Amino acid sequence: IKKIAILTSGGDAPGMNPAIRAVVKDALAKNIEPFLVYEGYKGLHEGKIESAKNINVDKYINRGGTFIFSARYPAFKDPAVRQEAKEQLDKLGIDALVVIGGDGSYHGAQLLHEMGVKTIALPGTIDNDITSSDFTIGYDTALNTIIENIDRIRDTMESHSRAAIVEVMGHGCGDLALYSGLATGAEVIVTNECKISPEEIGRIVKEQTEKGKNSIIVIVSEHIYENIHDVAKIVEKISGKGTRGMALEHLQRGGIPTAAERINSARMGMKAVELISEGKSGLAIGIIKGATVATPILEALKIPRTDRTEKTKKFNKLNQA
Ligand code: F6P
Repeated sequence: IKKIAILTSGGDAPGMNPAIRAVVKDALAKNIEPFLVYEGYKGLHEGKIESAKNINVDKYINRGGTFIFSARYPAFKDPAVRQEAKEQLDKLGIDALVVIGGDGSYHGAQLLHEMGVKTIALPGTIDNDITSSDFTIGYDTALNTIIENIDRIRDTMESHSRAAIVEVMGHGCGDLALYSGLATGAEVIVTNECKISPEEIGRIVKEQTEKGKNSIIVIVSEHIYENIHDVAKIVEKISGKGTRGMALEHLQRGGIPTAAERINSARMGMKAVELISEGKSGLAIGIIKGATVATPILEALKIPRTDRTEKTKKFNKLNQA
């Protein structure tokens, strides 16, 4: 392997930059020329590729986002588009590609692998919904950001004896809601596995208030309720407690990557280069029980998510006690 390219795809995530840096530097150390593909699969298709040989990647180690940009590019499902994208790599003599992204990006990586491009995928999404790794790149930072913001919300809710309904991201995966709920002592955690109606939330808020709780935090995963402000109104009506609804939105996706994030991203980036230098392809990197491991992308896409219903109930019980 003489030349390797890297791209970031889908929703950006803090930690993508330290992962890119690790791939670039480790490739250089192994005498492989690294290339940057700008704007994900879209940029690959359009040939937005340049050598990273003379680019200072060190300065991005502590920056959120992705300095090579990201895009959602449904057109990549078209075989003709993929063929043209492959030709962009062939033109530059690039043998291998590292893709950092979520499950949609994994599908694209698998298809490129099947077309003969040596492809390795790294889990890059704040959602923690790639099951071939205990942690996705971006999850730890997003979790810390959510916790910091909920702590702030708690301050003002406490001063005004109010309840807050806080919606967090996760794209169907409840981990951000669940673990931020445990870490902030949220009185109610609602995820896809443990859905309750706004009326039921109202009843719990009332009960918690009667038990002497001054402020109440309710954390809900996105896409469960149509409108978080409507939920707040129902909760206020049933509980009699002043209630505000808020969605944390994209502030969860930005920010300086945490220590754990930088370390895990660098480890996974280095593993990708190691496997590519051995001629491997079609693999997804992850960290499982502390070890950096590789799983065939096709298998990685099929691993079911651990059911967290019991855990959610347990954390709700703890926080409501
Ligand atoms: O997958 C990451 C994510 O932030 C999800 O949590 C969220 O549902 C989605 O992306 C938002 O996408 P966009 O930035 O395109 O609105």
